[in-house]
Amino acid sequence: MKAAVLHAPGDVPRFEDVPEPEPGEGQEVLQVTACPLTNLDRMLAAGTHFASSANLPAVCGTLAAGRLSDGTRVLFRSPGGAMAEQAVANRAWCTPIPEGLDDDLAAAVQNPGVSTWAALEWRAKLRPDERVLVLGATGVAGRIAVQLAKRLGAGRIVAAGRNTDVLAALPGLGADATIQLDQPDDELRAAFRAEGSFDVVLDYLWGRPAEVFISTLGHTDMVLRSACTRFVQVGSTAGANVSLSADLLRSSGLELVGFGTGNAPPAAELDRLRGEVMGLVASGQLRMDVRRVPLAQVHEVWNLDQKGTRTVLIP
Ligand SMILES: NC(=O)c1ccc[n+]([C@@H]2O[C@H](COP(=O)([O-])OP(=O)(O)OC[C@H]3O[C@@H](n4cnc5c(N)ncnc54)[C@H](OP(=O)(O)O)[C@@H]3O)[C@@H](O)[C@H]2O)c1
Repeated sequence: MKAAVLHAPGDVPRFEDVPEPEPGEGQEVLQVTACPLTNLDRMLAAGTHFASSANLPAVCGTLAAGRLSDGTRVLFRSPGGAMAEQAVANRAWCTPIPEGLDDDLAAAVQNPGVSTWAALEWRAKLRPDERVLVLGATGVAGRIAVQLAKRLGAGRIVAAGRNTDVLAALPGLGADATIQLDQPDDELRAAFRAEGSFDVVLDYLWGRPAEVFISTLGHTDMVLRSACTRFVQVGSTAGANVSLSADLLRSSGLELVGFGTGNAPPAAELDRLRGEVMGLVASGQLRMDVRRVPLAQVHEVWNLDQKGTRTVLIP
């Protein structure tokens, strides 16, 4: 069968022949119908993700849509790679796709939709009427974060991003205000401060934008305060590190947590969120743009800037 195969860290995967996968205990072979190309796939292949494998060559792709042998359409997670004509998955990791939702949209929304909902509900513990800042709101996950924060009852949503055109469209998805990130540090700091305080920050960027925002939280007096900002670190497209002083932590209400595999909700909760997210997309209440590309063109699109649209590879 054909698959997107990575031969060395940092390479672009090649579309080539590989043996058909053999199911292990409790596993099924699925016909893959749609596999999204996510930043996670890129980082795993680049060797820059904490879970990057040294065991190469390997088929890329983790989450996809496909058909079980009885024809059921499901979302699944494949331990052996999903950017292929066939993949194996544990039966327990297969979630039926509802009627009326295309495989490509279902596959595309799974990673950004479920992770964003879980980050808001599970890690940020977002409460109605709270004020939310989305750092990196112009990306696929950021656009979903704006919509889900609104749906979960946020009182004010501020969307911060770099791409001017995508940023301008975010009020249409529920943002109450936008902040352009491409400005000098002092001006960006002033733009964050002009918005007042935030209860929750969902951060897809880290690096310089996060560092500038965090610097606005500290105080230089001895006034006792109790307001907190729950900052949830989800992605790091702008940088792997920030500098964080002890003074800042002691003089601010910053509460810093991450969202990822090390702190995910229980499996049953993830199943529920997967169903909720697919239902919202199927009913048009959650908007997401996808670009369908044949798997054979994987090398052409691997490093393309997605500009808020998710590329979905079709075997
Ligand atoms: N922890 C999890 O479970 C989880 C789940 C989903 C996603 N993520 C992570 O979250 C991040 C975003 O994912 P995504 O799917 O939204 O990706 P995406 O669609 O490719 O969006 C990337 C975003 O990063 C911005 N960006 C890139 N470099 C930047 C820089 N130097 N300065 C400022 N902004 C910059 C882009 O801005 P422009 O629009 O201006 O290019 C865009 O908003 C990725 O790191 C991804 O791995 C984590």
